[in-house]
Amino acid sequence: MADSPVVDSLDGRFVLPADALVLLIGISGSGKSTFASRHFRPTQVLSSDALRALITDDPAAQSATEDAFDLLHRILTMRLLRGRLTIVDATNVEEWTRIELIAVARRHRRPAVAIILDLPLAIALERNATRDAPRPPPSALRRQHRLLSDSLHSIADEGFAAMHVLRSAAEIDGARIERMAR
Ligand code: CTP
Ligand code: MG
Repeated sequence: MADSPVVDSLDGRFVLPADALVLLIGISGSGKSTFASRHFRPTQVLSSDALRALITDDPAAQSATEDAFDLLHRILTMRLLRGRLTIVDATNVEEWTRIELIAVARRHRRPAVAIILDLPLAIALERNATRDAPRPPPSALRRQHRLLSDSLHSIADEGFAAMHVLRSAAEIDGARIERMAR
């Protein structure tokens, strides 16, 4: 792979290229959507839940997952063509989903950046339990956590231009994001 993409945010501050594709990576309940709404404009965020809801009125409709990601990839392509910073708010814990998204960025010569919300499983389970239904079952969070833990050591080799790992609720809450000038 190219130069080392791993850039841990030692002081909680990191800089994003203005035309990047940003993948939020984290299990359900790790705070991806909260993070996205805190740091980015709503139009910059492509959320698999929101797209499922656009198609079916139900953000949890698993039957709409394929169509939702089809739509996500199409909008992403249109945005990256125009060099618009775009955040993908989906769990992205499965390697093939990341590989597909990185390929879209590469096709349009945009940098792909990973922001990993590696919240401890116990905290995500706790938060998930107090969310409004429908919410994923604890077994789904455990499965996602296994997938993410298994791939943490190799995500750096997947082709990201930079990778930021936030390892606790405090690190996630304390993150500060700056944009690189165009
Ligand atoms: N939450 C919290 N404190 C934070 C961030 C999130 O208590 N600092 C809570 C949210 O209010 C929500 C839950 O944790 O009830 C999950 O956060 P959310 O951002 O929705 O997590 P996601 O990773 O987006 O979960 P999903 O993949 O299921 O969409
Ligand atoms: Mg969410």
